[in-house]
Amino acid sequence: MTSPHDHDYDDNFVDSLGRSLRDLRISVTDRCNFRCQYCMPKEIFGPKFEFLRREEIMSFEEITRIAKLSANLGVTKFRLTGGEPLLRADIHKLVGKLHTIPDVEIALTTNGTLLKNYAQLLAESGLNRVTVSLDSLDDQTFRQMNDVDFPVETVLEGIEAADHFGLGPIKINAVVRDGVNDHTLLDLAEYFRGTSHIVRFIEYMDVGNSNGWILDEVLPSSHVLSRIGKVFPLEKLPSNYSGEVASRYRYKDGAGEIGLISSITAPFCGSCTRARLSADGKFFTCLFASNGTDILKEIRSGVTDRYLIEMLKSIWVRRDDQYSELRTKHTQLPPEEKKIEMSYIGG
Ligand code: GTP
Ligand code: 5AD
Ligand code: SF4
Ligand code: SF4
Repeated sequence: MTSPHDHDYDDNFVDSLGRSLRDLRISVTDRCNFRCQYCMPKEIFGPKFEFLRREEIMSFEEITRIAKLSANLGVTKFRLTGGEPLLRADIHKLVGKLHTIPDVEIALTTNGTLLKNYAQLLAESGLNRVTVSLDSLDDQTFRQMNDVDFPVETVLEGIEAADHFGLGPIKINAVVRDGVNDHTLLDLAEYFRGTSHIVRFIEYMDVGNSNGWILDEVLPSSHVLSRIGKVFPLEKLPSNYSGEVASRYRYKDGAGEIGLISSITAPFCGSCTRARLSADGKFFTCLFASNGTDILKEIRSGVTDRYLIEMLKSIWVRRDDQYSELRTKHTQLPPEEKKIEMSYIGG
């Protein structure tokens, strides 16, 4: 395969299970203005919680350097995450820097609270797409799930603004918790039916250590599919690209599509091309990893690009992560080690 990049690095290597490195998810802050119970429960992420200090967090220059090197190694998509990425001051300036890297797509996953203010700036800086987390359209359920009493209306306005400034079609991520928001799934699907936006229902995952995850609260995607399909008939669509996490379904009447992300009942580790960079510059090869490699420390000690490239590559070729597949196979969790938190690594 020839590389689209002008360099002599090898971007045609795979991990120990034959998977390439194609996506880099970059967390720009571990802070968030929501306290979703499944991610940053108040009891743990309260006033005493110690978030990363400013000097521990990667600068935009440091992020851009790692991003450039990863593009040389074959990464074609950057996704900015948090916590809540729009809480990072001047985030559009980072987008602008990443935009100078050729042949990559830049996406961002946000809770939408600040999107109305930032959509134009982000679009003008070169952001290609946004994904908005929105668990329910029902205001009371939404306020309860974000646990800071934030109204749904502002998020809907953010989605509209993002669409207006060309950041669509927008993906709407809804984490489904049985008994919490499953009664409001149909209205979410219905609201975005007839638009180009795609609602994706995500099975509640056992990420991190603090969300008190129980299998009973996982509503399998097959149930979501039948509940929605009963009212609005659906049919399966092929994946857009190999390794896409969501299974796609279209409304038979042509009113658009939805997605199902089934990391519990149908894990997708076999095609997982994702690496993650935490806000303090640690490189993780799995969402469920316990340890990451401290790239930022290396950078701050003055190493060369060549050294960093070899380091990233050697981590990747040794990679054997398949947490979700193993969890499913054993119908329980693999031996417990402390996992990283979702708010730290950005989902
Ligand atoms: P696009 O297909 O480009 O829109 O992006 P994406 O679906 O990769 O990104 P997004 O952040 O929207 O991911 C959707 C959700 O799927 C995440 O929030 C996670 O809940 C879940 N997810 C994404 N990547 C992984 C992964 O590697 N492992 C697991 N288990 N879940 C993942
Ligand atoms: N299970 C599934 N999805 C989760 N997210 C956060 N925590 C979990 C969880 N425990 C989702 C968010 C957001 C994305 C980054 O990850 O809702 O859309
Ligand atoms: Fe909720 Fe996302 Fe914030 Fe976690 S990072 S608390 S999922 S809005
Ligand atoms: Fe990839 Fe790990 Fe998620 Fe499997 S569990 S899809 S290896 S990030």
